[in-house]
Amino acid sequence: MRKHITVSAPGKLMLLGEHAVVYNHPCLVTAVGQRMRAKITIFDKPVFELHAPDVKVIGYKKHLNDIGIGDIPKGAKFVEIAIKNFYEQYPFKGGVKVETSSEFSALFGFGSSSASTVCIVKALSMLYNIRLDNKKLFDLAYKTVLDIQGKGSGFDVAAALYGGTLYFVTAGKVIEPLDVKSLPLIIGYSGIKADTVILMNQVSELSKDYPEIVKDLYVQIDRLVELGKTAIEKKDWQSAGELMNINQGYLESLGVSTGKLSAMIYEAREAGAYGAKLSGAGGGDCIIALSSKETKQKIITGIEKAGGKGIDVETNVEGVRIEL
Ligand code: MEV
Repeated sequence: MRKHITVSAPGKLMLLGEHAVVYNHPCLVTAVGQRMRAKITIFDKPVFELHAPDVKVIGYKKHLNDIGIGDIPKGAKFVEIAIKNFYEQYPFKGGVKVETSSEFSALFGFGSSSASTVCIVKALSMLYNIRLDNKKLFDLAYKTVLDIQGKGSGFDVAAALYGGTLYFVTAGKVIEPLDVKSLPLIIGYSGIKADTVILMNQVSELSKDYPEIVKDLYVQIDRLVELGKTAIEKKDWQSAGELMNINQGYLESLGVSTGKLSAMIYEAREAGAYGAKLSGAGGGDCIIALSSKETKQKIITGIEKAGGKGIDVETNVEGVRIEL
């Protein structure tokens, strides 16, 4: 039996449908070229060790019986609970050492927590020779996200597992790969770290105060996701961009955009983007802009004029894979 394995999983970017997707609506998500790598080693001694310098967890160690118990550092939570959930379902109980490194900053909102969770479940299933298809791996990893966050759609877990560009419905009710080759996206990083759970709670409070209005907003977002799916499959960037702009309007209505995100979005649009919107929970993290080859550099300059950092990313990339 193999004693160690190295796997990698991609980060993600939400294209259309954030927040509504938490409440039984669809979204579109693409996997990005920057990846999370994890080396997982199993041994007899009943300890769990984690070395994740990107999230400032160095030399973290505890007895396997204490896994999931007591104070867990923020950067260790997803890996530790993923192992706990795996061992509850498949009672092997060997010691585990995890070493992670990421090609993207945990600050970008590219989904480093879900990518590392996916790496763990994939690696353990390989090391223990348990055949689990992507849906089974999804359910295990999604349980980990819910155990920690209390809520969330699981779209980030699906992107890390399946890769490509997906049409996704809450909790993996539908996970449908879209037939696209590439998506001409530019990322604008705001430099501000968003807290997804706080933003989800904020939106949930708003919907308690104005249930009918927020429900209608979700229905409109649902419609534009359906239209966006067709536009992206047809490479109709003009329509896809317009739908991104409309989606941004709804996200403004839900109260999750910020002055800085909006400034970057307007600069990107003025520089000739087909469309631009925030991507993810809002409150910070990134915006995305759909660009042509000709407008790419102008958009990056525009984003930087608004105080953001332009990042050129590969999209639609492969999901979780074995590296070594
Ligand atoms: C966060 O990146 C996107 C949200 O829709 C949350 C989720 O889908 O889990 C706000």
